Amino acid sequence: MAAAAMLVPVMLALCTAAANAAVVEHTFKLGGTKITQACMDSVIYTANGQLPGPSIEVSEGDTLVVHAVNDSPYPLSLHWHGIYQLRSGWNDGANKITQCPIQPSSNFTYRFNITGQEGTLWWHAHSSLLRATIYGALIIKPRNGSSGYPFPTPYEEIPILLGEWWNKNVDEVEKDGNMTGKGPKISDALTINGMPGDQYPCQGSAMYKVEVEYGKMYLLRIINAAVNVELFFKVAGHTFIVVAADASYTKPYATDVIVIAPGQTVDALMNTSVSPGRYYMAAHVFDSKTVAIPFDMSIAKGVIRYKGVPDYAPAAMPTLPPHNDVVTAGRFYWSLTGLARPSDPAVRTTVNHNMVVTFGLDQAPCAPYQTSCSGFALVAAMNRNSFQFPEKVSLLEALYKGVPGVYSEDFPDFPPPVQGFRKATTVKKVKYNDVVEVVLQSEEYSSALGTENHPIHLHGFDFFLLAQGLGRFDPSMKSKYNLVDPQVRNTVAVPAGGWAVIRFTANNPGMWFMHCHLDAHLPLGLAMVFEVLNGPSPNLLPPPPVDYPKCYG
Ligand code: C2O
Repeated sequence: MAAAAMLVPVMLALCTAAANAAVVEHTFKLGGTKITQACMDSVIYTANGQLPGPSIEVSEGDTLVVHAVNDSPYPLSLHWHGIYQLRSGWNDGANKITQCPIQPSSNFTYRFNITGQEGTLWWHAHSSLLRATIYGALIIKPRNGSSGYPFPTPYEEIPILLGEWWNKNVDEVEKDGNMTGKGPKISDALTINGMPGDQYPCQGSAMYKVEVEYGKMYLLRIINAAVNVELFFKVAGHTFIVVAADASYTKPYATDVIVIAPGQTVDALMNTSVSPGRYYMAAHVFDSKTVAIPFDMSIAKGVIRYKGVPDYAPAAMPTLPPHNDVVTAGRFYWSLTGLARPSDPAVRTTVNHNMVVTFGLDQAPCAPYQTSCSGFALVAAMNRNSFQFPEKVSLLEALYKGVPGVYSEDFPDFPPPVQGFRKATTVKKVKYNDVVEVVLQSEEYSSALGTENHPIHLHGFDFFLLAQGLGRFDPSMKSKYNLVDPQVRNTVAVPAGGWAVIRFTANNPGMWFMHCHLDAHLPLGLAMVFEVLNGPSPNLLPPPPVDYPKCYG
């Protein structure tokens, strides 16, 4: 009797835990917004008129529902960068991969569960350069709130979204880039939380400002939402303890500089323990290119002001590393290790698919439609396959409905021994729960173009980053893999002309894009797709949502 009575509260507790999972609902109106920025008036496309777009906050286990209302003149889709989309691949938002775009004057409701992950992620448009202005934070709190962090509870949390700004409609920037065959021109400014800071000598050059209290610990949730550039980030007078990257906890790592590639996130603790004052935070480009090609040289600035310090007090400026400081960048990228708690998934040691995927940019003849192209156009590829987006149906719909002729399943496991590139919609097919290892090898195809650091992003999964290095991968490196506490990421910055080894378990049926997150390289073909087959029930891809967007044309 006593034992039975004691069971009751336990059961009740379990019920409340399950009932805690909430449905978080947002409506994003995607349309034109007037803005004065960098001394210019422009119209940009945003979600709900905001730059950055609305921040989404959920707790692990919640269901997120976003009603996307397309009031813009552009077909578009929204991607939830880093969300697993476990058995909800229809909602991944990768244009032409998991859905056709939402047409102007149409709607689509994204609806998915966020389970088994927590930390800082983000969302962005996944069609053309629109993600330059259509993006926002997606923060996943532990199920039991801030007390669930594997580090002391911060006093406050500060999202820092780093972005890139063009003084022109980004759709035109992209079209011009296509016509020249050389990709979009460089951006006109870098931004912190949508604002360039006081680098522009005009009224209305807005700057992100945040007030802090002395003697507290803050959690900075840093997101690189820039389109084509990796960044260094510092706060004058302050240092950081990195505790997570790409929504996976790391062992605490002390540094005074953050290095972050497009697509990546870094969570860093910062103590406000220096003499109260005003301190600039600043970001500028980490330029990893091995040949001199112009890049955005501007510095985005924001300011941290201690409570009680007047707004007009002079602010200290941090010393950012030189643009080409590969040593500082490498130290940061290579030093992080996973927290690897006993409850975290361990690295699986039996590998079903050992792949080597080479990639890079090359020069190709101008295409006839590229009317302002002179000399050559750019082309990019993975294993000599230059990825072509399908036209009439998304890859996921083609897989689900068995539509023939949309893609081929012959993406090679190794670089083929040929020169030149094949334009093709090729996928690599793997079985449910297979373990896939990929050696990502950056190549120099053209000495005029050289190489650069490419952030390679995988949809649908986190991967373990087992090793990385400069130059050519050598199979003897396999004995040096970190199988104990590797970084867990969704985007890896593969060193210029170097390599990185990733390993993931294909536990999610669907079509999963893997591509360079330097947006300019996506239309050039620096992408491929993993096709993951259904597993035993219930590990199946469900039917598409009722309002799943149709393709036109
Ligand atoms: Cu953040 Cu396929 O992208």
